[in-house]
Amino acid sequence: MPSPTRVTSVRLRIDGEHHDVHVTGTETLNDALRQHLDLTATKVGCEMGNCGACTVLLDGDPVYSCLVLAAECGERSVETAAGLVDGGEPGTVQQAFVDCDALQCGFCTPGQVMSVESLRRRAAAGVSFDDDDLRHALAGNLCRCGAYRNILEAARSVVEVSVS
Ligand code: FES
Ligand code: FES
Repeated sequence: MPSPTRVTSVRLRIDGEHHDVHVTGTETLNDALRQHLDLTATKVGCEMGNCGACTVLLDGDPVYSCLVLAAECGERSVETAAGLVDGGEPGTVQQAFVDCDALQCGFCTPGQVMSVESLRRRAAAGVSFDDDDLRHALAGNLCRCGAYRNILEAARSVVEVSVS
């Protein structure tokens, strides 16, 4: 368990690039991204694990970056929405959000995109989902603008959903 006050150096691997940061034991992965590294593609809202705005992939799994200690992420893979951009073009899921008009203010979008990206990869690896699975998997990402219908449509367009 990292000390709450002692500053330690941690090497983070973010979207494939290494970054060395100095953090205390209470600073979160979100703090490291936004405050130490100025990587603001990942948003922060409640800082309590309620809204999902801060969702990133950690070793491929979606996590709330506001609840993960930065000091425990050394050499683990951290992926943010910025890393999905491909050669300056939106990634598959990002394009699906555009095509489906799945955002209004856009504040929740990076977190939503990362949750859908996780589903997309699992589906591509052979995991099958029905529509309820999809809704359940996205339930941890809140959208104050209420764009849920279009967000689900975007998710369905990139994650093959089985019909029961
Ligand atoms: S900011 Fe992390 S869940 Fe809300
Ligand atoms: S698009 Fe505004 S909070 Fe989701």
